[in-house]
Amino acid sequence: MGRYELLAEQIKAQILNKVWRAGERIPSIRQCCKTAGLSPMTVLQAYQLLESQGWIYARPKSGYFVSHQTLNLLEPTRQPVKLQSTQVDINNILFDVLQNTKDSSLIQLGSAFPDPQLFPLKALTRSLASSSRKMSPFSTVSNLPPGNEPLRQIIAQRYAQQGMQINPDEIVITSGGMEALNLSLQAVTQPGDLVAIESPTFYGALQAIERLKLKAVEIPTHPRTGVDLNVLAQSLQQLPIKACWFMTSFQNPLGFCMSQEDKRDLVSMLSLYHVPLIEDDVYGELYFGNERPLPAKAYDAHSSVLHCASFSKCLSPGFRVGWVAAGNHTEKIQRLQLMSTLSASIPTQLALNEYLRAGGFDAHLRRLRRMLEQRQHQMLQAIQYYLPTNVKVTQPEGGYFLWLEFAKEIDSFALYQRLLAEKVAIAPGILFSSQKQYTHHIRINYALPWNSRVENAIDLLGRLLG
Ligand SMILES: Cc1ncc(COP(=O)(O)O)c(C=O)c1O
Repeated sequence: MGRYELLAEQIKAQILNKVWRAGERIPSIRQCCKTAGLSPMTVLQAYQLLESQGWIYARPKSGYFVSHQTLNLLEPTRQPVKLQSTQVDINNILFDVLQNTKDSSLIQLGSAFPDPQLFPLKALTRSLASSSRKMSPFSTVSNLPPGNEPLRQIIAQRYAQQGMQINPDEIVITSGGMEALNLSLQAVTQPGDLVAIESPTFYGALQAIERLKLKAVEIPTHPRTGVDLNVLAQSLQQLPIKACWFMTSFQNPLGFCMSQEDKRDLVSMLSLYHVPLIEDDVYGELYFGNERPLPAKAYDAHSSVLHCASFSKCLSPGFRVGWVAAGNHTEKIQRLQLMSTLSASIPTQLALNEYLRAGGFDAHLRRLRRMLEQRQHQMLQAIQYYLPTNVKVTQPEGGYFLWLEFAKEIDSFALYQRLLAEKVAIAPGILFSSQKQYTHHIRINYALPWNSRVENAIDLLGRLLG
């Protein structure tokens, strides 16, 4: 054990023995150097280790404080959902909420965007400049759907690292995950068809269903284990479901990651009914465990899973580059893309190809995951400290969302409006269902840098909840 690790162990023991209590400031680096006879670098390393493990946290210009250690938070419950098909109509409220995302004076706890400072913007800009300089005048035509070939190859290589055999020709590059998902849904449905979705689900899925004049069948979903496969089986028997759109890893808004067994069972159940799975996997890289969870696509023996992913959440939100590994549906997806947006933006495809080949992506991902895990810990600590004890909250093992369930009488849309007046944005639960439920739930984004503004926002939320 190195010196800094020994020091970290001593401080941990002091915290456990209540020498330093939650919320108290521990000695400054300078004081600790004096008392322990160690160099500032060793003490700093010890403090950083304790911080990454969640024992202490730094407050800018104030020093290091003891975290509110033991998380003793209640888990949200699986909500009952009516097994019926519904027309979707959420766009009006959603438009207002999304408009607020642009307002930089708000504390963006409701946004679906990650903190832009978490990304390697300089390296990306360099790749964009250098690949644009080398861009051939013929690249507009050579990169038409399915998209830039070297980029598709490198994506296929990343699948191969997970033991998945995906041919680069099966991959279509799109304008973000959103286009991949929309084209996939369009490829496997006709207006009026029924689409099974999780409940609650990402509002983008509801919007796509509304736009394509489809109907949603909401399947009850457990906040920790995911979609209820028994109810799904029952629905497939009773209703003419034509497609499923599920987020199998770090679902938005609940954050669960389905177990590998459930992913396998899901794929085999759907293949029995010949129902394609649109697998929305845009958060798959943001895992806190040891390895990337395998997507359901890994169990797809019949090429009927359309695996949709993107670089928006893990590398470059503004580049709008995503893809779909579309199996049997690849050609149809390309035709639909040619008929709609023509192709994804070419300079950004070329830039990402160059960035990925330069070799820094995995190191960036490791840093990003560590930061997100740390920020989740800080947010949960604050929730435990400031919010009433009956508040239930998820503790996901990846992604950057928390789902909070309040007492039934709390109207989370009214809460959203009251917080907005105080410059704090949250995502009210009604955005996540076509059945106007989740009226006492909210989603919050914990990817923001932790600071006193964010802490005050959670404090305010706690005061409004009474
Ligand atoms: C679950 C889910 N799928 C897809 C998307 C869209 O991804 P992209 O930004 O790559 O279009 C989002 C963005 O919020 C999302 O949360």
